[in-house]
Amino acid sequence: MELIAVCDSKTNTAPDFPMGWWSLARSHELQVGEVKAVSALDRDLVLYRTRSGAVRVHDAYCPHLGANLGINGRVVGESIQCPFHGWQFGADGACQHIPYCEDIPARAKVNNWPTSEVNGEIYMWFHPTGEAPMWEVPVIEQLQDASWTAPRQVEFTIPTHIQDIAENSCDPEHFQYVHKQNETPPSSVTVEDDGAVHLHADMNANGIPGHLHATMFQPGLARVQTSYGPGAEMIVYNSAQPITQNETLLRWTLTVCKDIEDLAGDAVMNGIIDGLQDDYPIWKHKVHRKQPIFCKGDETLVLFRKWVRRFYLETSPRGQQ
Ligand code: FES
Ligand SMILES: [Fe+2]
Repeated sequence: MELIAVCDSKTNTAPDFPMGWWSLARSHELQVGEVKAVSALDRDLVLYRTRSGAVRVHDAYCPHLGANLGINGRVVGESIQCPFHGWQFGADGACQHIPYCEDIPARAKVNNWPTSEVNGEIYMWFHPTGEAPMWEVPVIEQLQDASWTAPRQVEFTIPTHIQDIAENSCDPEHFQYVHKQNETPPSSVTVEDDGAVHLHADMNANGIPGHLHATMFQPGLARVQTSYGPGAEMIVYNSAQPITQNETLLRWTLTVCKDIEDLAGDAVMNGIIDGLQDDYPIWKHKVHRKQPIFCKGDETLVLFRKWVRRFYLETSPRGQQ
């Protein structure tokens, strides 16, 4: 008997979260000593920057009486202090100090998440069973290069699962129907030895031929490099903060070679937002199909679905996507 039919709702079919690095904030949004409550991966987290500048992410709720460390918690040196009774938690999340007691219970600990800070952003590593990071966040070198412009940034929240957002890049056919593009430029999509999905496409901007190379390092981390010749290049970098299984915040960062600074800027960012707005109604109302019916023309979607499996545990009840 087919049981899945009764589960055709977003809530019941959305996959777990893929393992990987998830963006939580721009670096400039977290000053030394600052504490923030953050929602990501269906969890309440506390994000803070210690006095030495280190970034930490812990589960938000204090093991004592459950106060949220992200709401009025304070940075004290290299630790965070709970707003309720002043317990302090250090780098590994273990309680280091209780102001009114010498004995610290061994289980007084908040869950700690590995962090990374590159590309002007703060990331946390997520693995469903708590394994240590299995790869690094890719460094976008142009973001530190003086011959490229200071980054432009924009954020957009999307009502769907991160996997389905990532899948959109491997879905050439929807451009005609959703994005109203008459012709889909010829493109190739491959998984290469670096483990990333690479998309290459030739394109034409007002008669100037160019080349687009998109690299998806993991669901929710991608770089798109567009080149119209030496000195005429543009990078769009995209990272994701899955908030719940059906809500994802995307962060976009754009930099261009200074030679074309006046040509490619806000228009590109506005183009990205327009594109996302085209996709929005589809994403808002669709369900996730765990086992879609594919046709022979869907090779790149099939390739994506095979690739994305590596980001889930085989044993996860909803992990095999
Ligand atoms: S609830 Fe955090 S110290 Fe009591
Ligand atoms: Fe799209």
